[in-house]
Amino acid sequence: MVSTKTIIAASLLSIFIATGCAVSSSYNEEELGLRKTEIYGEKTTTGELTSYSKVAAGESKMIPRAFENAPPMIPHDVEGMLDITKENNSCLGCHVPGVAEVVKATPTPKSHLYDMRTGKTLAEVSQARYNCTACHAPQSNNEPLVKNEFAPEYRKVDGAAKSNLLDSLNEGVK
Ligand code: HEC
Ligand code: HEC
Repeated sequence: MVSTKTIIAASLLSIFIATGCAVSSSYNEEELGLRKTEIYGEKTTTGELTSYSKVAAGESKMIPRAFENAPPMIPHDVEGMLDITKENNSCLGCHVPGVAEVVKATPTPKSHLYDMRTGKTLAEVSQARYNCTACHAPQSNNEPLVKNEFAPEYRKVDGAAKSNLLDSLNEGVK
């Protein structure tokens, strides 16, 4: 026969385990979300500081393209190069084909000297591509909060370092 004392002890033990488990799997507000601060206000929430490349153009290391024909990230310091204005686009000063080869910068690709509407090749960079930083951005050196599992597959061996959008733009379209 199981004694009453044993039954009481066993039920006390199971209550203890049950509540113990419940406590360990509950979260307080600060633990919710990725930012780990209170969720009803912004007072204690501060963004992580950005840390952009300080390496001068000409000395930086190019960043592999995120996927085939992705706009490459800007690997060098852009201090003093922005804003891009109607009168002044310093990016073009180095990246325009002809100059780029001399300063060892990647020249703007064929797609930038092309009018997508008329399908005509242009003598200079298309106005639609004038504002370089609308598509090309510097990369801040911060740890991502969530790991990115995406792995690009390039169809050409040099696909991580070169683009050819204009060559493949109308692939499959006839
Ligand atoms: C003084 C010349 C110079 C200026 C001005 C300049 N760049 Fe560059 N850029 C380079 C060079 C050189 C490289 C190659 C990496 C290196 O050597 O630092 C490069 C690399 C890049 C790349 C990477 C290309 C690739 O193939 O991965 C991008 C994108 C880029 N620059 C965009 C810009 C933008 C946008 C601006 C204007 C805000 C700009 N650059 C201004 C010289 C320059
Ligand atoms: C509308 C978006 C857009 C704008 C604006 C833009 N680019 Fe690009 N850029 C791209 C994309 C997308 C690619 C990659 C695909 C390709 O070849 O067009 C690219 C590729 C490049 C490359 C790499 C070329 C290669 O051979 O690998 C350079 C260098 C570049 N752009 C410079 C510039 C400069 C300098 C400007 C401003 C004058 C500029 N881009 C404006 C979208 C843009």
